[in-house]
Amino acid sequence: MTLTLFRLYHILVLTLRSVCSVAFSDHDFDTRCALRNHFEPAFKTQGDFVLGGIFPLHYNQEMPDLNSTYQPPPVKCNGFDPRAFRWALTMRLAVEEINRSKELLPNHTLGYKIFDSCDYPLTGQRAVLAVVNGVTEKDHGICRGASPLLAIIGESGSSQSIVVSRILRPFRIPMISYFSSCACFADRRKYPTFFRVIPNDDYQVKAIAQLLVHFNWTWIGLIRGDREYGRFAVQGLLRELQGTSVCVAYTEIIPLIYNQQRALEIIQVALSFTERAFHSRAKVVVVFSAEGEMTPFLKDYMEQNISGIQWIASEAWVTASVFSGSHYYPYLGGTIGFGIRKGYIPGLSDFLQTVTPYIYPSNPLVHELWEALYGCASVPSSVVDLPICSGEETLMAKHAAYMNTSSPRVAYNVYKAVHAVARSLHNLLLCQPGVGPFENRKCIYNILSTGGNIEFVLVGLFDGTKTTGQELDIQEDRIIWAGHQSKVPVSVCSDSCAPGSRKAVRRGEPVCCFDCVPCDSGKISNETDSVDCAECPEDFWSNPDQTACIPKVVEFLAYDTVGIVLTVISAVGACLTIVVLVVIFHHRYTPIVRMNNSELSFFILFALVLCFLCSLVFIGEPTNWSCMLRHTAFSITFSLCISCILGKTLVVLAAFTATRPGNNVMKWLGPNQQRAIIFTSTLVQVVICVAWLIDAPPYPSRNMKYERSKIILECSNGSSLAFWCVLGYIGLQACLCFLLAFLARELPGNFNEAKFITFSMLIFCAVWLAFIPVYISSPGSYADAVESFAILASSFGLLLCLFVPKCYIILLKPEKNTKQHLISRDKK
Ligand code: TRP
Repeated sequence: MTLTLFRLYHILVLTLRSVCSVAFSDHDFDTRCALRNHFEPAFKTQGDFVLGGIFPLHYNQEMPDLNSTYQPPPVKCNGFDPRAFRWALTMRLAVEEINRSKELLPNHTLGYKIFDSCDYPLTGQRAVLAVVNGVTEKDHGICRGASPLLAIIGESGSSQSIVVSRILRPFRIPMISYFSSCACFADRRKYPTFFRVIPNDDYQVKAIAQLLVHFNWTWIGLIRGDREYGRFAVQGLLRELQGTSVCVAYTEIIPLIYNQQRALEIIQVALSFTERAFHSRAKVVVVFSAEGEMTPFLKDYMEQNISGIQWIASEAWVTASVFSGSHYYPYLGGTIGFGIRKGYIPGLSDFLQTVTPYIYPSNPLVHELWEALYGCASVPSSVVDLPICSGEETLMAKHAAYMNTSSPRVAYNVYKAVHAVARSLHNLLLCQPGVGPFENRKCIYNILSTGGNIEFVLVGLFDGTKTTGQELDIQEDRIIWAGHQSKVPVSVCSDSCAPGSRKAVRRGEPVCCFDCVPCDSGKISNETDSVDCAECPEDFWSNPDQTACIPKVVEFLAYDTVGIVLTVISAVGACLTIVVLVVIFHHRYTPIVRMNNSELSFFILFALVLCFLCSLVFIGEPTNWSCMLRHTAFSITFSLCISCILGKTLVVLAAFTATRPGNNVMKWLGPNQQRAIIFTSTLVQVVICVAWLIDAPPYPSRNMKYERSKIILECSNGSSLAFWCVLGYIGLQACLCFLLAFLARELPGNFNEAKFITFSMLIFCAVWLAFIPVYISSPGSYADAVESFAILASSFGLLLCLFVPKCYIILLKPEKNTKQHLISRDKK
């Protein structure tokens, strides 16, 4: 502000100089070129210095006839604006006050010339030419002795101000705008004589961007008027929104010449985004437009009888008179926006009340004011069809558009602008070099929201002088949102992603529109709206919600269902074997036991008990010892068992071949030899196992390959070669045994042991052949269960095939338990 005033001060010096030089040098200013137009000021007064004023006293004007072949008709404007009229009167008031003041410009008087621009750049241009030319267009201005034009207070809309400033630029006449907030004026090279008493829109767009971010409105609509103001403001807002979470769903432009068809289309677009189209809700719509364009637009909006939109109003219409009718409330209540700072002008209310058609009978604008306020004609007129005014009209609350003098905003700007010029002139006339008279003023926006009773409610402040991020101060509890809501409206394209999921941007759509995809297993996100899921550390896995990493489940064949079943089966098997052992031991002198080599039978049964028990080593958490024991114990007991069976087969085979004459095999197969065979063939397995344990013993390991979510505790074989050797050796023994038993199967005798050995080996081989593929393909702890089952199944196979027939005869058919019966062959 100081800088601005300082510049103004300099320019005033220049203006005075140039004006004077023209006044004294150009004596022969002639009437040869005369303006052919007639453009009367709304108000004028003479003074030592003249201030020009340009105000949009009408909302719009009929398109002028630009056919330059005949004298253009006078400007025809429509839609009288009482609010702008009040601004014009405020300028008059300020000038009159200054003229009366003994402190400010005590020895000088100020005059003014106030023109109507009809809110239209071309008319603004005519107005500024009229101002510089003279009191009226007919006068040829300052060089004919008229007072020097000090400055122009104006214009309102930025597009008019641009035109005005371009015309004033060559003459170095300063203009002070009270409402042109366009950021474009910041270019001092283009607009060196432009000053203003309203903050640059750069602050407003910053404030709106912060407001959007504050309420997490990330999916918004933009509507603007088709003028510089809207264009630059939208540009600025888009720039401010870059790098924030806010995306713009659509930008629509209200045409320069209002068009209902187009307005309805825009409303339709806005609505389609309010109603959850494609899951998105752009409920919040930011509008940069002036009151003149917004009034018909909002009327059309309300005629649709909809109220779903949360309007964010720019300073140009947030205090518009549209809000002063109570029927607007259901549709526009809750509108929020940044208003210009207000101030109090003492005496304004009284001054406005002095303006009546009876005091100013020749001023057509005052008549128009009466028409607009009271709907009556103050003089009989053939043009308007209105009742004649009574003369008793009083100003009431409903005339707020004109009479709202308690907290003027733009009018206060006008007042400030006049004072700024007067003060500059005063200081210029009194200034001593080096003593600057300027004070430090702030620019602060007020945030306004229309509350319950169509009142403007102050809900916060935007202070551009504070540090970035701290400028916005909002009291949310004071805001009543659109549609009577006390909750902050939601305006987002996609709902935020809960923890456990991440954002996935949709192709070809703005970043605010995304899908939420759940994190992959093993990955987590623990905050809302995460962009990525984080991988869990090695020993951890995601919980079912994917929101936290929890230690992986450690799995092994425990004493759960499977473990208990296996334990029970192995216990049953071992007990059964012991029962069989007892039975056979008890009947050890009966022929069936004696004939079938009782010592070997006891060995087999003993080995089978061990076999059943060694399946237990597979259950429980693997430790160094249990891992080493598992395969070795199992392979040695099985080797022992099969060695015994092999011995038995050999004996059976030998016994029968020995019956043939000249054969003395039995001599070589006495009990000692048998023991030796069993011992050596078991010893081979023992040697393999010892080598295995010495070289690369099995050890417990944590396997994370089978299932990434679990740690499987298993025994690593150490050496697979050794493992397969051990199994292969058992297989070899079993096959040999099977082959021999198969040869002996046809031997005579009612009780043919060889047949049962064949069966048992068949079952044994079948079980272990089936085991191999299942074992290889079973993950982790299942492999242990499979092996344990295979051990149990093959042990049962052996027990049942070899001993059930014997027990059957011993216990149930004792009459058959004779040597005679066993050797002889029953006739079929
Ligand atoms: N701040 C606006 C501007 O700079 C205010 C305004 C006044 C306006 N009259 C207008 C905006 C007309 C658009 C149209 O222009």
